[in-house]
Amino acid sequence: MAGDLLPEFFLSTKVGFFPSPTGYTEHSLDPIRLRTAIEATADTLGRIPDIVFLHNPERSIRQGEHRAAHDSLTEACEALQGAARAGLCAGWGISTWDPRSVVNVLCHGRGLAVSPSHLMHRSGVLVSSAVVEGSETLADLLGVARERRWGMSPFAGSTRAPFWDTVNLSPLLSTQRQHSPVEAAFRLAYELPKVGRVAVSVNDPSHLRELVEATRLSVDRTMVDRYRSLLRDRQRPDHRALLRP
Ligand SMILES: NC(=O)c1ccc[n+]([C@@H]2O[C@H](COP(=O)([O-])OP(=O)(O)OC[C@H]3O[C@@H](n4cnc5c(N)ncnc54)[C@H](OP(=O)(O)O)[C@@H]3O)[C@@H](O)[C@H]2O)c1
Repeated sequence: MAGDLLPEFFLSTKVGFFPSPTGYTEHSLDPIRLRTAIEATADTLGRIPDIVFLHNPERSIRQGEHRAAHDSLTEACEALQGAARAGLCAGWGISTWDPRSVVNVLCHGRGLAVSPSHLMHRSGVLVSSAVVEGSETLADLLGVARERRWGMSPFAGSTRAPFWDTVNLSPLLSTQRQHSPVEAAFRLAYELPKVGRVAVSVNDPSHLRELVEATRLSVDRTMVDRYRSLLRDRQRPDHRALLRP
């Protein structure tokens, strides 16, 4: 039973989404709701999680006026820090699908008074250059080193799209080992941008076996750097257009 094995795992979870009165879910940075959810998590698990992530804070601060957004982000982070101090979790972090508004708030505010130990963001070949760059900026602003940064959603949720059968990612690797595009994409999720772990969703045990094998693939760093710079250039506005009459 998985329950019996729970003490053996390094466990992470997230807080930030709550049942709404209309029956849907709603996002909230309310410190009391966050603290209550963390207490309930420890009760339900029968042990404390190793990491609790503040889930997608951008969902509540995107529209916010900077000062108010900064204050609510700070209060939410202080709630997680307080929970860690109270022994409800061993550590805490921030998990973001799109880090850009969080970066914006921190750049226009006074930084963060408390420091998360971990940061989780998207990683892999399907992530836009803007999100890759934004994630690196956020990690720098929060002072989170590579080994405490986790990538997530390396296949953007599914490997059923037909391009996973045909895409060739081998030029970004330097290996003689046989590998599928999915395995190559998983290995590259540790590099785009550089992270210490990758959170992936797996139901099929043979998939898990393949992914563990894929972590042993070697990467061609020169080609990965080149790929990143091509993505960056593609995103820049075409300045030549400004020169047209
Ligand atoms: N913050 C957010 O808003 C947010 C949103 C989404 C996800 N996430 C995080 O990201 C994590 C994972 O991302 P995700 O759920 O979006 O999906 P994902 O990990 O990008 O993709 C999961 C899919 O990949 C398939 N797969 C895995 N290994 C495979 C293999 N070796 N060969 C073929 N297919 C393979 C799985 O199939 P099987 O299930 O059949 O094995 C599953 O359908 C989540 O656990 C969560 O922590 C966060």
